[in-house]
Amino acid sequence: MGEGYLLPRAASIDNPLRIAVLISGGGSGLAALLKYQQEQTRNHNTVLVIADSPDAKGIEHGNRYGIETHGISLPEITDKLQRRIFHEELIHKALVKADIELVVLSGYMRILTPNFVRRWKGRLVNIHPSLLPKYPGAHAHRDALADGATISGCTIHLVDEGVDSGMILAQREVPVLAEDTEFDLQERIKKVEHSLYPEVLDKIAAGEYSV
Ligand code: GAR
Repeated sequence: MGEGYLLPRAASIDNPLRIAVLISGGGSGLAALLKYQQEQTRNHNTVLVIADSPDAKGIEHGNRYGIETHGISLPEITDKLQRRIFHEELIHKALVKADIELVVLSGYMRILTPNFVRRWKGRLVNIHPSLLPKYPGAHAHRDALADGATISGCTIHLVDEGVDSGMILAQREVPVLAEDTEFDLQERIKKVEHSLYPEVLDKIAAGEYSV
């Protein structure tokens, strides 16, 4: 773990990095990224959106911008590991077919198997709504509030074979207020996520990170 990252090429506005965004839910982060890429020509461009269900609300953002968008459901296989592996195989094939150079997890709520991670390691980036290594996993806001945290935030990291444990690229803090509900904290963090993720993608695409 922590090794074997292969970063994408350094791209340019004339030849932007081809990005796929993976989502599970409402896709507010996806919408913010597409707006950013639409405002002016960037060194990265979203050419594929994949949701883990055709019912994911965020799919509409991809459609609105005329981007190739797939809702790929889990296949009906009884064995849970086989089901995940087969699902990831379908995703991998779609990524390869679209010549994807960077996979951006934006509210993608499935843990990817080491098998998938190894194929994309260094070209697979995630945003997590806490200041990692604090509060990894699916309940970051609940855990932060239960812990009495006064500061939380978000982390953008390369994905490795663990859960929310890959190399950290950027973090941004937000205050936690005494009367916050999980929803309040989530919304405050999303606001900073929506500006931080595009900034970090600019840097990745410019070749500014090294591993
Ligand atoms: C974001 O806050 C993101 O950090 C979080 O899900 C939200 C997605 O919101 N991701 C995780 O918790 C990953 N473990 P969105 O669907 O509105 O973009």
